[in-house]
Amino acid sequence: MKPSIVDTPAWQALARHAETLRGKHLRQLFADDPERFARFSLETDGLLFDYSKQRVDAETLRLLAELARQADVAGWIERMFAGEPVNVSENRAALHVALRSGAARWPLPSGEDAMPGIRAGRERMRAFCDAVRGGTLRGYSGEPIRAVVNIGIGGSDLGPRMATAALAAYAHPSLRIRYVSNLDAADLAPVLEELDPRSTLFIVTSKTFTTPETLTNAKSARDWLLAAAGDAADAAMARQFAAVTANAGEALRFGIAGDRLFEFRDWVGGRFSLWSPVGLPLALAIGMDGFERMLAGAERMDRHFREAPAERNLPLLMALIGLWNIDFLGAWNLSISPYSQSLRWLPEYLQQLDMESNGKSRRPDGTPVGAHTAPVVWGGAGSNTQHAYFQLLHQGDWLIPSDFIAFAESDQPLPGHHDRLLANCLAQAEALAFGSDDGAPLRACSGNQPSSTLLLPRLTPETLGQLVAAYEHKVCAQAAIWGINPFDQWGAELGKKLAARLLPALTTATPVDTDTSTAGLIDWLRRHRRNA
Ligand code: F6P
Repeated sequence: MKPSIVDTPAWQALARHAETLRGKHLRQLFADDPERFARFSLETDGLLFDYSKQRVDAETLRLLAELARQADVAGWIERMFAGEPVNVSENRAALHVALRSGAARWPLPSGEDAMPGIRAGRERMRAFCDAVRGGTLRGYSGEPIRAVVNIGIGGSDLGPRMATAALAAYAHPSLRIRYVSNLDAADLAPVLEELDPRSTLFIVTSKTFTTPETLTNAKSARDWLLAAAGDAADAAMARQFAAVTANAGEALRFGIAGDRLFEFRDWVGGRFSLWSPVGLPLALAIGMDGFERMLAGAERMDRHFREAPAERNLPLLMALIGLWNIDFLGAWNLSISPYSQSLRWLPEYLQQLDMESNGKSRRPDGTPVGAHTAPVVWGGAGSNTQHAYFQLLHQGDWLIPSDFIAFAESDQPLPGHHDRLLANCLAQAEALAFGSDDGAPLRACSGNQPSSTLLLPRLTPETLGQLVAAYEHKVCAQAAIWGINPFDQWGAELGKKLAARLLPALTTATPVDTDTSTAGLIDWLRRHRRNA
């Protein structure tokens, strides 16, 4: 059994060091070192990462880099890039990095080259995007496609949903892209209401093609389309339903035509799949050239993550600082604050990326990690959030680190907004760090809330790729240190199984073996239905 990371000398040195920093305020740390910004910030490929407002000093960083060395993060990174089965519980590689690669070859341990398949997938996506965007792919009645609905959930929804909103400034002017994920009919129904069946394309995105939420929505969408198409139902199904999946057999059984099937391999994890054909609705929105620009931005971050030394490695520093906050300062939350309305879905996207990947307390051999792992990730677009929950960050008594994300220039043209937005972003980070005390206790803000700020010139496909890849690598580097597998999600299974068991009790009143609370709730629900 591998020793737990908490038993390494580096971890113990960090625990002792944390005691010496505990009483220090960020005000003090800044007063002690006029060079603090220069020392604790890093720029790579136009992305500035300022971590000077984190509660760290030079010794913290030295010890954290030593922790990464003792955990052999560099070895883990190499194994991931080499296509070794870093997803140990499922005995699979995790090769999202190959998906965005422009390399001629990507040899896998089996001897297979991953690139020909990846390139062929991109070419098929390009041909499809060109046909839809150019109006040559038509619906059952001959109408060009004017709306695309992606039906998927979790990793088959959040990545393209987040990126489509982020890159709205680059989108096709008249192709509407909608995302439906929730099992609640209140998600799909209003979308169908606004669309014309003659010109709507559905993409069913599901790695497994067995996810009940997605299949329920897909069946309702199919019923809606086929009812409208009448005698042309076969043409409607053949032209207006596509699937993105690693389970071609199930998609074909659903009725998807073979030439509308976009496959990806099982070494693409759901929450790391934006770069695969799962990004198809995004590629339809911004065109395949735009999509490939996003891949190129992510690839540049991959190279940096693989090559930069620990002290200058942006995702690794994000990982180490996050881990420091969680395990040594006791901060179990992470607030994500993009000062960009276009990035409004980023907090939810990162919630899945971080919490589904690292929300685990056992290592693959079943032994406990011995430390807290993923933080509770939440957030929203500034400046709205300032008028909602920032009060708690300023005057509550929880230690809550924040990531601020902003751009030098706006991606939208209205004058007079952007400088004000940026001033608010910077002001919040400043207020959280330094607080204020004008003698009035109710107005006093104690400060000392740590934050990092990520700045980019503007929101483009490339910079979005860079940013998302940085967070992916942060999550993986943390997993490598804690010794957990970020690529499985066994915890998500139990609730699915129980829901399948409870369903008959709701639909047909079949008695189920459950606890008295759940039975009481089912009984109440049945009695309060008008048609019970
Ligand atoms: O329930 C969790 C999960 O398996 C996620 O990991 C995944 O992103 C989501 O469900 C959707 O899965 P699929 O793409 O197979 O429909």
